[in-house]
Amino acid sequence: MNNLSIPNNYWDTSLYEDKHAFVWQYGEDLLKFLNPQPGESILDLGCGTGQLTEKIAQAGAQVMGVDHASTMIEKARQNYPHIRFDVADATNFQVDKPLDAVFSNAVLHWVKEADSAIASIHQSLKPGGRFVAEFGSKGNVEAIVTALSSALEAFNISAQTLNPWYFPSIGEYATLLEQQGFDVIYAILFPRPTPLAEGEAGMANWIQMFASSFLAELSGEQHTQVIHAVEEQLKPTLYQQGTWTADYRRIRIVAIKP
Ligand code: BEZ
Repeated sequence: MNNLSIPNNYWDTSLYEDKHAFVWQYGEDLLKFLNPQPGESILDLGCGTGQLTEKIAQAGAQVMGVDHASTMIEKARQNYPHIRFDVADATNFQVDKPLDAVFSNAVLHWVKEADSAIASIHQSLKPGGRFVAEFGSKGNVEAIVTALSSALEAFNISAQTLNPWYFPSIGEYATLLEQQGFDVIYAILFPRPTPLAEGEAGMANWIQMFASSFLAELSGEQHTQVIHAVEEQLKPTLYQQGTWTADYRRIRIVAIKP
């Protein structure tokens, strides 16, 4: 995860690998759009603990994984010692040699400075190089954000200022790509309701893993109160037969540097 621009640099990699494996499991579908070829040079931007980087390597490509979180990179190196992994920032990275492709799964919704990330990606590619990405789109986890906002109102906290995510529409993101010289050859927005692991604890785990910035100003006791209020609000719509489902909506994009 693909979390290149999270304000704090700490990610619990055990929690991530044990309970949120769906992040890279869903990402495998995106690999079909990348279609990595033997000998190609490819960057996995926001590689998390490296599972998709390894799949790209298995296709015979020369792949390197980067992530903003040093904990993720340490774990990726342990998982796949034969692959190069480095800490880097999506908004400001450079490569030694121009690449055939940049791949990014479930990361770019953490990067509010989308312009800077697109500029870095563009400069890293060869002419003809491709950028293949999937991330949260406009409306992603909207029910969860709405429930968090209303639970935080009880503590006079505005969720808007604590929201770490950027969820653009296709039009918005394709325009940013075109403005920086990319040809957008494929773009789709689709709902992807995502069942969470761990039964009844699934929503609380998800909030603790991914939405902790909303809770930053609260005590431990207040965390519990907010999470409970969010669960109560969402139960009728997102909890069925012992499983929580997060209301994910994805944007999937393929763009070429002419
Ligand atoms: C996502 O993959 O859409 C996502 C993951 C964590 C937080 C927000 C969105």
